[in-house]
Amino acid sequence: MKDLLEKATRAHTLTRTEIVSLLACSESQLLFQAADFVRKNYVGDGVYLRGLIEFSNYCKNDCFYCGLRRSNTQAQRYRLTPQQIIATAQQAAQYGYKTVVLQSGEDPQFDTDKMCHIIREIKKYDLALTLSIGEKTREEYAAYKQAGADRYLLRIETTDKALYEKLDPAMSWDNRVRCLNDLKELGYEVGSGSLVGLPGQTLESLADDLLFFKKLPVDMAGIGPFIPHPHTPLANEKTAGHFELSLKMMSLMRLLLPDINIPATTAMETLHPQGRLLALQCGANVVMPNVTQGEFRKKYELYPGKICTGESPEQCRGCIQAKIESIGRFVAPGKGFHGDFLKNK
Ligand code: 5AD
Ligand code: FES
Repeated sequence: MKDLLEKATRAHTLTRTEIVSLLACSESQLLFQAADFVRKNYVGDGVYLRGLIEFSNYCKNDCFYCGLRRSNTQAQRYRLTPQQIIATAQQAAQYGYKTVVLQSGEDPQFDTDKMCHIIREIKKYDLALTLSIGEKTREEYAAYKQAGADRYLLRIETTDKALYEKLDPAMSWDNRVRCLNDLKELGYEVGSGSLVGLPGQTLESLADDLLFFKKLPVDMAGIGPFIPHPHTPLANEKTAGHFELSLKMMSLMRLLLPDINIPATTAMETLHPQGRLLALQCGANVVMPNVTQGEFRKKYELYPGKICTGESPEQCRGCIQAKIESIGRFVAPGKGFHGDFLKNK
């Protein structure tokens, strides 16, 4: 294991078999330390904050794992108006955020014109703008880019095509890859990522996820444990081991793609009270606090037990900064584009 980690720390490559053996290894501490070392060298001690605006929980898709799936009739649906979205972004800028992430289910109500209007208005606040609104046509992606969007998040969820399509028979894995390629070609900073612990997912397939992110290559990648939602077909699945395996995935991602942005995902903190801090010590360098107001926070329920649903955006901003500083790190100034740390070093 030591030899493998040394190779990965130096050359940032591993074969599929090597990744599988590291994922299976019970002594994860050495892996975590290697990732923390590489993180410090390539992206530094600064942690970038991205203000997350969850603006609509309507979704036309029906993924088995997701609480926003259209067949979940118990979800209380909401959508913010363009004015509310723009005002929330303005508030985020006032709290000191340099990036906002606009996230929603795939909600056809937000057509291209509406989205472009929102993007143009938000760009007036000197914010980097990330979209996370699902699969669109190349023309739509081009229009958002033209309007000023900088980044796009679209998780591949799993690179196991058969598993992906089993978890939503109406969706096409090839189309998802087409989306990622289009986004890349259009000049977005592209974020992807996967779920860890899906029923039927193997260590081999997780290794393939990492190799997929390296090949694209992504600018950013979010790894989150799968947490069963009671109002979905996967309600009775278990979460045992998903937390540790997610930390290993994040660590390996840092070793393979040393300078990318890796968020400490909110789902990590649902499974462990120190989840995001542990992730920050296993390769992560980004946190995405929620800046959505009031009752909408708990209605955006991808999975149960989501954190901070009773807190306000101000509370989260203060809380997360204190947490980051408690582990000897700091909130990084600036917009935090891929490679910024090495450029300014
Ligand atoms: N558990 C954890 N994460 C989930 N997501 C969707 N459903 C769940 C779940 N049950 C993740 C998906 C999606 C992101 C926005 O939320 O990976 O890309
Ligand atoms: Fe929301 Fe801590 S980040 S309360």
